[in-house]
Amino acid sequence: MDIFPTIIMIFGGAGDLTWRKLMPSLFDLHREGRMPNKFAIIAVDRVPFRDAELHKHFLDGVKRFSRNGKVKSTGWNDFARHVTYHQGDFKDPATYSNLEKKCAQVDQEWKVKAGHIFHLATPPVMIGVIPRMLADAGLNRNRARDRIVVEKPIGHDLDSAREINRTLRESFHESQIFRIDHYLGKETVQNILAFRFANPLFEPIWNRRYVDYVTITVAEAVGVGHRGGYYEHAGALRDMVQNHLMQLLCLVAMEPMVSFEADEIRNKKVDVLHALRPIPRGAVRQCTVRGQYGRGKLHDKNMRGYRQEDDVSTHSHTETFAALKLFVDNWRWQGVPFYLRTGKRLARQASEISIQFRGVPHRSFPPESSHDWHPSRLVLSIQPEEGIVLGFQAKYPGPKMLLRPVEMRFGYQESFAVPSPDAYETLLWDVMKNDATLFMRADQVEAAWRLLMPVLEVWAVAPPSDFPNYAAGTWGPEDAQGLLAHGHSWPLPTELVEQCKKKGKNL
Ligand code: BG6
Repeated sequence: MDIFPTIIMIFGGAGDLTWRKLMPSLFDLHREGRMPNKFAIIAVDRVPFRDAELHKHFLDGVKRFSRNGKVKSTGWNDFARHVTYHQGDFKDPATYSNLEKKCAQVDQEWKVKAGHIFHLATPPVMIGVIPRMLADAGLNRNRARDRIVVEKPIGHDLDSAREINRTLRESFHESQIFRIDHYLGKETVQNILAFRFANPLFEPIWNRRYVDYVTITVAEAVGVGHRGGYYEHAGALRDMVQNHLMQLLCLVAMEPMVSFEADEIRNKKVDVLHALRPIPRGAVRQCTVRGQYGRGKLHDKNMRGYRQEDDVSTHSHTETFAALKLFVDNWRWQGVPFYLRTGKRLARQASEISIQFRGVPHRSFPPESSHDWHPSRLVLSIQPEEGIVLGFQAKYPGPKMLLRPVEMRFGYQESFAVPSPDAYETLLWDVMKNDATLFMRADQVEAAWRLLMPVLEVWAVAPPSDFPNYAAGTWGPEDAQGLLAHGHSWPLPTELVEQCKKKGKNL
C-alpha cells in the first residue's frame, strides 16, 4: 500500500518511549517495507545530541526491543539515513519556526508537500503547549495530511480530560487527532472483533439469555519499577481501568458494526460507555475494591511492598489494584455483571476476558453423573498467552454416563506460526494510513472518565485504612471476592501455552 510522503516529528525524541517503543516499531515497519516511499523522522528534544550519537542510541534500543532483535548493518543504515535530530525547547517558538523551515526544505527536495505527523512522546503537561505552538507555526494546516498523536494519560479526571481535548481541538480538527491506547493495537484485542463478528456461531448466545457474567482481568507481575513518581498520582484506576480495561469491555459488549469504518466502530464502542450504569457515590463501596501490594514472594524471590518502591511515599494511599462491578444497561446485557480487575505484583502476568455462560435450564442427567459440573466458559486470552479456550462438558469414557469438563483450545502461535507485531507497530502504521479505528475519540475518553468520577471522588475523601492489603505474588486483596454475586468467581487465568505443551503440541 502506497502511503503519502510523510515527515514524522517526535517530541520527546530523546526520551524512553521513543527509544523503547517508537523507534523499534518504525524500524520494524521499515524492514517490512511498510513505511512510505518518502519519509523522514525528526526527533525533537531539548538535550544536545549529534545525529551520529542519536543513531547509536536508537540502534541500541532497536537491538533490545525490536520484534526480531537482530539488525543487519545495511538494513539499519538504510533506515537511519531518514532519522535526524532537532534540538529545541518545546516552549520556544523558534523550535517550531525552525522545524517549519526544515519541512519546507524536505518538500523542495521531494517535490511534494509532505504530510506531517507530530507524535507527543512527552510528559502530559506538554499537551497544553505543543499543539498551540505547532498551529502558530502553521504546521497543522493540511487537515487531510497533518496529524497529531498523543499518549495517555488524557487527563487525570473528567475536567482535565475535557480541557486537554479542548486545547487539542483549538489547533487540530478531531479527525487529525490520534489518541493512543496501546491495548487496542494488540493482535489479540483486535481479534475480539474478528471472533465475535466473523463467526456467526457465538453471536446468538452473546447476551443476557446465555451469559451469566463476564470477568476482565489484566494482571501484572511487575511492580511500578522506576515509575513510582508518576504512579503515585495515578493509581490503578487511572492508569489501567479508565483506558485499557474500559476498552476491552467495549469490545466485548458492543453491538455489531455495520461497516469497518473508524467512526462506525467507535460509535458502537461509545454506545457501551453511555450504557454503563452510573455508580452513585453511595454505592462505591459495594461496587469497587482497591488494594495496594505489600512485601511478598513472587517466583521465589522476595519482593518489596509498594511503599518501599522508589519515589513512593512510605504512607502512600495510592491503589495498585482495582476491581469494579459494572452493568451495561441495554437490551443485550441487562442484569449481567461485568467484573473488572487489574493489579500490579500479582501472582503472574495474565490479561484475559472470561465469558461465563449460564448452566442448562434443566439437568436431565442423574445427579451422580454431574458432580464435577462446570457451566461452559469461553476465555479470550490476550497476553502473555495468545488464544481462545472454550470449556464445556463431555462424557467420560466408560459404561456410566459421567460428565467431565474439557477444553477446546486455539493458540495463535500454534495456528499461525508468525510472531504478532508490537502494538505500536500497528498503531504507527495506522496513523500513517490515516486509519483512526484503533484510537480513542474525545467522547470515548470523556465517557470513561465520567463513569469513574464518583469512584475517584469517594476514594479521595476516604483514604484506605488497611493498605497494604495484599502481599506481592498473590491475586490481590481478599475483599475482591466480596464484589462477586453468589456463585460467581474470579477465574484463575488459563495457562494456554503450558497446557498445549503438556499435550505435546509444538508451540
Ligand atoms: C501502561 C500502564 O499503559 O500499560 C502501565 O501505564 C502498564 O502501568 C502497561 O504496566 C501495561 O501494558 P502491557 O502492554 O505491558 O500489558
